Amino acid sequence: MTKNIIITSALPYANGEIHLGHIVSTYLPADIFARFCRSNNINVVFTCATDDFGTPILLQSEKEKTTPDKYIDFWNKRDLEDFTKLGISFDFFHKTSSTENIKLTQYFFQKILENNLIYKKEISQLYCKQDNKYLPDRYVLGTCPYCNENDQYSDGCEKCGRVFTDREILKPRCAICNKTPKLKTSMHYFFKLSLLSSKLKTWLTNNSNLQNDVKNYVIKWIDDGLNDWDITRDIKWGVPIPLEEAKNKVLYGWFDNHLAYISSAIKFLNDNGKDGKTFWNESDIYHFIGKDIVYHHYLFLPAMRLGIEEEYKLPNYIPTRGHLTLQAKKISKSRNWYIGLKDFLRIFPADYLRFYLVSINPYSQDDLNFDWDEFATKINSELIGNFGNLVNRALGFTIKAFDGVVPGPEEFDDMDKESEKKIKELVLDMGKLMEQNHLDRALKKILQFSTHFNQYFQHKEPWKKGPGTNSCVYLSVNAVRSLAVAIYPFLPKSSQKIWLQLGMDGNVSAQSFDEISNIVIKRGHRLGEISPLFEKVEESVIEEQKTKLGTGI
Ligand code: MF3
Ligand code: ZN
Repeated sequence: MTKNIIITSALPYANGEIHLGHIVSTYLPADIFARFCRSNNINVVFTCATDDFGTPILLQSEKEKTTPDKYIDFWNKRDLEDFTKLGISFDFFHKTSSTENIKLTQYFFQKILENNLIYKKEISQLYCKQDNKYLPDRYVLGTCPYCNENDQYSDGCEKCGRVFTDREILKPRCAICNKTPKLKTSMHYFFKLSLLSSKLKTWLTNNSNLQNDVKNYVIKWIDDGLNDWDITRDIKWGVPIPLEEAKNKVLYGWFDNHLAYISSAIKFLNDNGKDGKTFWNESDIYHFIGKDIVYHHYLFLPAMRLGIEEEYKLPNYIPTRGHLTLQAKKISKSRNWYIGLKDFLRIFPADYLRFYLVSINPYSQDDLNFDWDEFATKINSELIGNFGNLVNRALGFTIKAFDGVVPGPEEFDDMDKESEKKIKELVLDMGKLMEQNHLDRALKKILQFSTHFNQYFQHKEPWKKGPGTNSCVYLSVNAVRSLAVAIYPFLPKSSQKIWLQLGMDGNVSAQSFDEISNIVIKRGHRLGEISPLFEKVEESVIEEQKTKLGTGI
């Protein structure tokens, strides 16, 4: 691994609360990976921001009779609060409407313009006479021109993932008043995406870190022919176009939002005494996303960086994961078929959610399902019954039988040797998977490790105080220490609790991941105070949660 790593997760719109669907693909995997990298002594910068501009936010702030500025400020604070409660450890949480980002966006526009990659064109755009407005993006609903799915917004199709415009969408209607809009001409700026086709294809083909299945369908989009990209909007809420002649226009939200990956990381670094731009260009860069925004991250984003001669480095990795369904149905806020993060965390500890969501979340585009019963089973049997049980048993027994002082080992028998080997191998077993972003599989390794030690303990029957008891206690306590460090990226709060119960100094987050396979705890070490780590999830609580859901489809 390199020494500098930049990690970003897709920016939440400053337009409504964070729900479980957001967490799965982006924030949680990125956080686990960031924590893992930090414990490998890598310089990590993990940033995010709210995505502040665009029509839906303007529309909603108008509806709520406030200003867009106040509206986005509210959501910016609230999102960060919710993320913090879940233990998402951003180094910096900024805004796309920050001065830094507006400046960087205008700089990109100017440079791309100078490089002859932007042209002006008069286009006819949908205009609603009733509402007296041009109707960009989410102001228009209609049918997808590619797959015929109904009720899609005019900026793209949720079903097939294609991106298009209000001129291409079929059977358009105004999202405010439902009337059929008329066409009216307007001057727009276009980014020559098509001209960058072969550069994009080369970049994609040569980047062996990208997931192959995603890469292949993006290459197919390129082969089918890319359209130039309309980067202007006739609204007031966005980054102003830095040209006199375009006073009443702003840049499209997807032109500026991903630039906040760069502007926030660089601001954070500069504020902390580093040269942000150099750091960025010398880092491995990871953009964690959900599969609904593949087009934007595999085409628009690299094209813009290519368009200014890679002055800012392109991503090395774009870890892309699937969508979450809830009780096997599509998440929908309007039908109340969704679970807000804040509500969830009022009822269950953050680590329960982290544990469950990672365990069902492979490094692929497969969709995942949140199921209340499965959640309860996983927590009760895997987290508590297996993992928690080992911690409790090994430490509890040491307290009871040895006054909390770890005994020295005797000569190891075969079973002891096998267990010692499991500790020695944990770092390799797990580390590779973590590096490759197979977080679910790494978590499984941890659980297999704790299953092994539960069996070992059971087999050795130390409560009988026969020969080999000391070795069993010695190795089991050390296994718990390995587990505490190994589980840290996944369950930061619980891992710190274990750390204290083990009687270890300092913070578990400061431990180096390399040392999970070392036998660190020696004869005579005194444990801390112990208490149960977890509380069982009761069926009645789960049933209550189910009744809170509205109607899904
Ligand atoms: N706000 C967008 C969404 O939720 C994601 C923006 S990610 C970034 O779909 F690339 F723009 F930063
Ligand atoms: Zn479609």
